[in-house]
Amino acid sequence: QEITWTLEMAEKQGFPHFMLKEIYEQPNAVREAIYGNAETIARIAEEIANYEKIFIVAMGTSYHAALYAKYLFQRLAKRVPIVEEASEFRYEAEELIDDKTLVIAITQSGETADTLAAIKLAKKKGAKVLSIVNVVGSMATRLSDLVVYTFAGPEIGVAATKTYTTQLTVLAMLITALARHLRTADERYLTQLEEQLTQLPSFIEEVLEYDGELKKLAEELKDRKDFFYIGRGVSVPTALEGALKLKEISYIHAEGLSAGELKHGPLALIEEGVPVVAVAPNGKLLEKMISNIKEVNARKGFIISLGDSDELSKVSDVFLKMPKIDELLSPVVYVVPLQILAYHLAVLRGNDPDKPRNLAKSVTVE
Ligand code: G6P
Repeated sequence: QEITWTLEMAEKQGFPHFMLKEIYEQPNAVREAIYGNAETIARIAEEIANYEKIFIVAMGTSYHAALYAKYLFQRLAKRVPIVEEASEFRYEAEELIDDKTLVIAITQSGETADTLAAIKLAKKKGAKVLSIVNVVGSMATRLSDLVVYTFAGPEIGVAATKTYTTQLTVLAMLITALARHLRTADERYLTQLEEQLTQLPSFIEEVLEYDGELKKLAEELKDRKDFFYIGRGVSVPTALEGALKLKEISYIHAEGLSAGELKHGPLALIEEGVPVVAVAPNGKLLEKMISNIKEVNARKGFIISLGDSDELSKVSDVFLKMPKIDELLSPVVYVVPLQILAYHLAVLRGNDPDKPRNLAKSVTVE
């Protein structure tokens, strides 16, 4: 009998695409990120503790991780970092940085041209540079003073999945450790977050179970023209990332925004059947989210919500019940169903999710 398996098929380990394989690798990848950094993270936190002027720079999905970091810095470490796309930072920040500045660069490949330019500028001005990188030995790691690795393993799919959830994980570890060092948050609360961090892999495993349901949902929605993703607080980056995943691989127009912005324009586009994905973990902003959702209900938009409250399920057309998890860590888990939804929509529309048109895994030229 002839061998009908190609090398690529073997590498996909039975999954039809690398992207799906990488989505499913997330419990393990996050576990590796946690254990790989367990011993060093407190030392790195200590090294950055004295910096009050902080920039966080990145592009694409890594930029959404940077936005997530902003919320953690604010809520736990009482620091207000400036988060900027590296492509903007490199041309705007020269006069603003000095040797009292910390620049945190987030880049899975460690080779993105704009992010490398931002790092070089920071170094030239004497700033301290901490990079959060997946690829060992990449240029970003060589240019930086400090490196935190995400240990996600190689990611082949152009659309980032496991490198994103591991970025969020190490950022949560780092900023929790920083808050502990600075004593800017309640210690019992920090301990609780650290305990929940170790449960992230099993929470992700739970939500992977939604794969079948999300595929059916994708069949229903595959011909829709626009999607909206809304969130508040720490869920804003998740909304942005959900929309980006959809655009990248399904070529459906999607917008991610903070739910408070709905009324300032996007609501004009909500009509019957327009899908609105609401990222709504339990927390201080849930009530606000529910009133935003009701505004969408009133215009007969189609609400797909992710959360853990009965009240939320009542105002939703499709409700995905998420594991009980602290709001601050929820983005690591909540983004996973959004990756899966984008994946199925891409495949159902006949696209190759591993190689989206016009996009590259690593943008090494400006
Ligand atoms: C490209 C990729 C994205 C990625 C971005 C930043 O656009 O297609 O998936 O998020 O680059 O890449 P980096 O390697 O710097 O995280």
